[in-house]
This record gives sequence, structure tokens and C-alpha cells, in this order.
Amino acid sequence: MKTGKHILVTGGAGFIGAHLVERLLKDGKGVVVIDDLSTGSWNNLRAVAQHRNFRFIQTKISAYAELPELAAEAEFIFHLAATVGVELVVKSALHVLEASFNEMQTLLRAAAKNSTPLLLTSTSEVYGKSAKPEFSEEDDLLIGPPGQSRWSYACSKLTDEFLALAYAREKKLPVTIARLFNTVGPRQTGRYGMVLPRFIAAAKAGEPLKVFGDGAQSRCFCLVHDVVEALVRLQKCSSARGEIFNIGGTEEISIFELAQLVVETLDSKSRIELIPYDQAYAPGFDDMRRRKPLVEKLERHVSFKPQTTLSEIIKLTAA
Ligand SMILES: NC(=O)c1ccc[n+]([C@@H]2O[C@H](COP(=O)([O-])OP(=O)(O)OC[C@H]3O[C@@H](n4cnc5c(N)ncnc54)[C@H](O)[C@@H]3O)[C@@H](O)[C@H]2O)c1
Repeated sequence: MKTGKHILVTGGAGFIGAHLVERLLKDGKGVVVIDDLSTGSWNNLRAVAQHRNFRFIQTKISAYAELPELAAEAEFIFHLAATVGVELVVKSALHVLEASFNEMQTLLRAAAKNSTPLLLTSTSEVYGKSAKPEFSEEDDLLIGPPGQSRWSYACSKLTDEFLALAYAREKKLPVTIARLFNTVGPRQTGRYGMVLPRFIAAAKAGEPLKVFGDGAQSRCFCLVHDVVEALVRLQKCSSARGEIFNIGGTEEISIFELAQLVVETLDSKSRIELIPYDQAYAPGFDDMRRRKPLVEKLERHVSFKPQTTLSEIIKLTAA
């Protein structure tokens, strides 16, 4: 790849990152990916591996000596690298907290040297245990106690948000924060506890679909291509700088109904099994009952609202 203006994508070998990379290359951009392949996979980037405008660097962000130059020369930075997945987070809170802060700080310092605009992918987990029917970017946040390690992911992402906005205010760094809700679609792995890929794999294999808890907890799912469209529009939107945006689907479904819909859509013979949370994760595991985004702010700034229906998403993912 020729040197010059490129877009830097951290975590670009991950599920969402790889879809974003494909889209940016299709738009004619030069793309550099930094990924340590801890949860991501080179396989996700197979389709673009030989692209002349693509470069892959396998490293942790903080371990890459040339990061300052790479960030300074970039036209834009998408920061997606993170330890993701409830199972993984419950197992290694220390890693989640230390790595996330360290990587974010390293990246922001590098970006600030040349005021390279940066977008951070945060998460709906930051809304914590809020009982509001829909979450707005201006809401107070209600995180669970530190004795429960599952909240370390929310706290680390929230710290990233605070840090990014402090750089925006004090260093005039153009940052945008995107709080992603459940994002699903082709190539997502179920290895780290993601619900839809787990259900689809079980339904295809004729094995039981394991629903954790009573299954009445509800979520909204959004197709990864819709999320990528929103991210690309935010990148181009000057009024988005210094702002936080929810990105997610708005069709709410309980996890039990989701399991039923997967079985129906894929014409599977699988049963649905309820598994108590303390068997699935750890004793005292705390889940959120509902998690639905308000997406009016996203629509107002970039004229886009995710649209793909859940049954279309299931078919696309299963295929
Ligand atoms: N998938 C979702 O539903 C969802 C929901 C909310 C937020 N998010 C956020 O979106 C982003 C992408 O998520 P994803 O689902 O694609 O996860 P993913 O695990 O597939 O992607 C994360 C990528 O980051 C890489 N990585 C992790 N730590 C790194 C480090 N220190 N240095 C370099 N690379 C590193 C991993 O190898 C992986 O390729 C994450 O920031 C995540 O928190 C995702």
C-alpha cells in the first residue's frame, strides 16, 4: 500500500471491524488495521488480504512503536479493539480494565499529536441496570457494584468515553463516541457467549438452544452492515464531533422469543432449554431486563436509522 492518508482501524480483524474494513476499501479508502488477533481472526479479513490499499499489522496497540506516526498520518481512526463478550469479561476483569485503559490512552495520545479525528466504539452496557424503557445518550447511568466482575466491561468503556471527551475538551481532539447495542450478522463467533450465533449454530446442529435465566430479558438486534453504515456516516459528519450516539436496532424481542424465532426461521427440530444464570456464568450474575436504544440523535445528525428486520438478520447470519 502507498503511504499517505489512510484510515486506521484498531480491532479490524474482529467481527465488526472486518465488515468496516471491507466497506472502507470499497469506498476507495486506504486502510491500515492494527489487531493482536486475541479474539479476532485473520480469516475475517481473507476477502481483502490482497487489496492494494490494505495493510495489516499484528500487534497490541500499546506495543506498536510506530503508532505515533501511523496515527499522525491517518485521516481518521476507528477504535474498535477491546475485550468483548460477557463470558470473557466475567473470566478476566483484570485484563479488561487494564488493557482497555492502557490502549485507549496510548491511542488518544498518538491521535492528539496531529489532531487526527477518532471514533470510539462504546457499548449499551454503560446504561447498566437502568430500568428506563429506552436509553438516551443524556441518561444517568446505573452500573452494578464492583464485586460483580461483569460490570468491569461497562466501567472500562465508560472510562474510555470520559477519557475521549476529556481529550476533546482539553486537547481539542475531534472525537465521536458510538454506543453500540447488540450487533449481529455474518461471521460473528459464538465462542465468547454471543447469543445469536450460539442459537443459530445449535439450531443448525439440531442441538438444544440454551436460554440463560428465564428468557424474559429483552434485547434489540442490529445487522452489522447497518452499524457499519452508521459508523461511516458519523465519520463524515462534522456535527458529530464531541458527541455520543446510540447505534442499534429498535425491534425489541425477549431472548426466549428470539430462540423460538431462530428455530422457526431455520425450520429446526431443536428444543429450547432454560439454564439458570449461576450455572451459565457465576453465582450472583446480574443481567439487564431490557436494553432498547433511542436512535433519534443518530437519525438527526446522519439521516440514518437501522432498518433490517430480525428474521432477515437471522437468515443472513445463518447463510
Ligand atoms: N458485537 C457487539 O454486539 C458489540 C456491542 C457493543 C459494543 N461493541 C464494541 O464494538 C467493538 C468491536 O466488537 P466486535 O464484536 O467486533 O468484537 P471482536 O472481539 O470481534 O473484535 C475486537 C477486536 O479487537 C482485537 N483486539 C483486542 N484487544 C486488542 C489490543 N489490545 N490491540 C489490538 N487489537 C486488539 C481483537 O483481536 C479483535 O479482533 C468493540 O469495541 C466492542 O466493545 C460490540
